[in-house]
Amino acid sequence: MLPMNDNPPLSDLLLQWYDRHHRDLPWRTSPVMAARGLTANPYHVWLSEVMLQQTTVQAVKPYFAKFLAAWPTVKDLANAPVEDVMAAWAGLGYYARARNLRKCAETVAREHDGIFPDTEDALRALPGIGDYTAAAVAAIAFNRQAAVMDGNVERVISRLFAIDAPLPASKPVMKSKVVALTPAKRPGDFAQAMMDLGATICTPKRPACALCPFKEHCLALASDYPERFPVKALKKQKPVRVGAAFVAVNDKGEILLRRREETGLLGGMTEVPTTGWTARIDGGTGSEHAPFSADWDAAGAIVHVFTHFELRLSVYRAKVTVTPLVDSNNGWWEPVTNLDAQALPTVMKKAIKQAIPFAFDTNRTSA
Ligand code: ADE
Repeated sequence: MLPMNDNPPLSDLLLQWYDRHHRDLPWRTSPVMAARGLTANPYHVWLSEVMLQQTTVQAVKPYFAKFLAAWPTVKDLANAPVEDVMAAWAGLGYYARARNLRKCAETVAREHDGIFPDTEDALRALPGIGDYTAAAVAAIAFNRQAAVMDGNVERVISRLFAIDAPLPASKPVMKSKVVALTPAKRPGDFAQAMMDLGATICTPKRPACALCPFKEHCLALASDYPERFPVKALKKQKPVRVGAAFVAVNDKGEILLRRREETGLLGGMTEVPTTGWTARIDGGTGSEHAPFSADWDAAGAIVHVFTHFELRLSVYRAKVTVTPLVDSNNGWWEPVTNLDAQALPTVMKKAIKQAIPFAFDTNRTSA
């Protein structure tokens, strides 16, 4: 169990494990390179950390590569048209983050001459950078002794100390444990090691405790049921909203798209015409709610889960020969073969794919 004199420190056990088992990730400096004095590029660390708040390491890799190819430096990103950044972000979800990403790049470019500040406090003062990102960038890019806590770290900590109080109320206690464990030497590697441990060994289900560097010290393992942690408060059921989406294709193989209002959910993103659902209000679900009359066929339904509600969209499809009037302010016809380049959020991609199964099939060249 946890030795009173903490000898060797738990952080050493973890760093030794990390030296052998770390994941090679494109935004990372490996421990060997770090030992030679090579620090991770702060722009890469920041960009990857913002993306990693949305999804998994595997899902982030292609987005990270795409962003760096288009905008190799933070100044390039600062100068990019916001629509291009939104289009490149499409699919990662939570589009306010994409706007904030560019705003932050602008601030770093304008107020800091393209050089990220190197303390947790100064980083937190930048737009869109919260406690997590500030700590992660300070630790990983600048070797500051910042305590980094995300979902993976919470799981590791809650098990190591068998924290019975439910999340989220237990966060401050967990944070104090991470603060106490984070070493002055190699804090960036320590933070990444905690995250790798949570992702590869201390997994939500069936953790590989036999391979864990903390196995001699883990109170949850000693209790014989480590998966019980972290304890979570009971979740409220998400409300279900309904609506309809209308996928119109013309005889040139083009699909009718439009731009959503700037404000609100998925603000400024691209969509097929839909009825006016929100997190609180249902939209109509029948074809009589279509934006123009056509031979609308029912093409099934899709479900998409947003943070605060679940949306069920009935999908309708029509071949149109007479081009309906398109509101020139925010509607246009786009070749089905060019949908990958549009700022379509995942819910819209699902609706389009429901109506046109081969849409987004990159190997196909004609509609
Ligand atoms: N998840 C979020 N940030 C991470 C990082 N730097 N390494 C591994 N997993 C992560």
